[in-house]
Amino acid sequence: MRLTLVELDRPVGERFWFPFTYEEAGLGFNNLWWYGSPVYPHSKSVFLRVVENNNEVARVHLDNEVEIDHYADVPPLGATALEIQFIEVHDDHRGCGIGRAVIGLLHNRYPDRRLVAFSEGADGFWSSLGWRRHLHADPEEASFFRPLFIQPRA
Ligand SMILES: CC(C)(COP(=O)(O)OP(=O)(O)OC[C@H]1O[C@@H](n2cnc3c(N)ncnc32)[C@H](O)[C@@H]1OP(=O)(O)O)[C@@H](O)C(=O)NCCC(=O)NCCS
Repeated sequence: MRLTLVELDRPVGERFWFPFTYEEAGLGFNNLWWYGSPVYPHSKSVFLRVVENNNEVARVHLDNEVEIDHYADVPPLGATALEIQFIEVHDDHRGCGIGRAVIGLLHNRYPDRRLVAFSEGADGFWSSLGWRRHLHADPEEASFFRPLFIQPRA
């Protein structure tokens, strides 16, 4: 498997940015996730396509600003935390190791950061990577918040 991460360029001077066009947003991907809302000028988001043999096999949305201190027993990551806002593997390519490989590529690309993700029904995936699961610090609130997974220290 030879995967490449391709960062999408934010157009200069545009007020709002749709990283994926309406036409391409849903091609094997869930277009609600990739064409829901525009990216604002001061956003710290990064969008990546994952390409194999000229085919887009996955997408990643990263966010450089993430708050995790309201979760229990979290390490003091400060600005080193880098959130995987969303990762999606193309419908036809799931279950073949691409998700795991993409996380490895992100780790190589951002060696000084600690990746974190709020799981949306994908606890099995994050756990399989050996990431630790954290719940909201207030047990009464925990069921209203997505579990947080944190990449282990290298
Ligand atoms: C979650 C997702 C990114 C995983 O990508 P993938 O390429 O299918 O995963 P991989 O083939 O690399 O699997 C890696 C491991 O995760 C496990 N896994 C993957 N998806 C899983 C799921 N939904 N539930 C439980 N385990 C899962 C696999 O069994 C595998 O475990 P193993 O290495 O111990 O055998 C992909 O299924 C997807 O795009 N889902 C829809 C979007 C989504 O839920 N994104 C995550 C939001 S937080």
